[in-house]
Amino acid sequence: MKRWAMFLTLALCLFCMMALTGCGGKQDNKVGGNPDQIVAMLLPESSEIWHRSGLALQETLEKNGFRNDLRFARTAEEQTEQFREAVSQKPLAIIIGAVDGDAMKDALAEAANQGVPVIAYDRLIMNSPHVSYFVGYDAKEIGRSQARSIERTLRLMEKPGSDNIEIFAGDPKDNNSHLFYEGAMEILQPYLDRKRLVIPSAEESFEKAATNDWSAENAKARMSRILQLTYANDRPLSAVLSPNDTLAGGIREALDLYYKGQWPFITGLDADPEAVRAIAADRQGMTIDKPPSLPVKECLRLVQDIATGQSVPTPSKLNNGMRDVPAVLCKPAVIYKHNLESVHWAQ
Ligand code: BGC
Repeated sequence: MKRWAMFLTLALCLFCMMALTGCGGKQDNKVGGNPDQIVAMLLPESSEIWHRSGLALQETLEKNGFRNDLRFARTAEEQTEQFREAVSQKPLAIIIGAVDGDAMKDALAEAANQGVPVIAYDRLIMNSPHVSYFVGYDAKEIGRSQARSIERTLRLMEKPGSDNIEIFAGDPKDNNSHLFYEGAMEILQPYLDRKRLVIPSAEESFEKAATNDWSAENAKARMSRILQLTYANDRPLSAVLSPNDTLAGGIREALDLYYKGQWPFITGLDADPEAVRAIAADRQGMTIDKPPSLPVKECLRLVQDIATGQSVPTPSKLNNGMRDVPAVLCKPAVIYKHNLESVHWAQ
């Protein structure tokens, strides 16, 4: 009995040492069991935050002994090609922020056929049974936070009257865009219903508010059109719901060109350097900081567990229409002018 116990303890110690050298990265490529296996990282090009996230992922994986390949894509076609190329290299895992989740379906099935785990990063890919994990944020809650900041700033609860607002949503191909919009409208709808908030352009639905490709130019064009058509007679605009900082930039440019009234409260997301400067200059009301270090740490943990063949514990599950995807949700920070210095990269 005692011998058994000793043997077990020894075996356990050996296992732990092996796992630990893997985590510490001292043994470099031995972690995956196969030194040729890389971690592929495929991200969209649409906002500055993806570059920050990609570089943070790359640095962390490298530090921990994982070879990796980081690519950015502008279009779904380009990303699907990158994905297929990655699968053909039999990677340890693919970390993907999908440009268009729907367009990835067949490629995801190919990854599953090859036994390649797919980690959806920041954007959940819907309606596929082949998404292994999700690491990101609660997108609906982000939308709610943006709308609550409008509620608080315009004092919608306690102040009578009526304020004008315009609503922007993200790219319809991105699942997050729908969730940001739904979360925000949960808070704003009651005020719209009782005309405490009014949308003079009448462009309220997701379809009307959506911004293809998350493009600042598209947001600027739509805001310019609305301002010229609806705000020409000095009509005041109190707030603009913008789902991220990229679009907020386009919206500010349109306001500079076509709006003379008091500057509206504009929301954002990502704590892009340009947005942070705009908040300091009272040209944007808020943003939401998603420090890449949080999801990156979680991705590293998943990759390490995949490499050592351990089961991967995850605290949450998110249903993507086909399955409950094991998920890790990180906590973002709401940033206003008064706490600007707490933006992760400004510290
Ligand atoms: C991300 C945002 C980003 C946007 C545009 C969303 O899916 O959550 O952080 O700004 O895509 O790239």
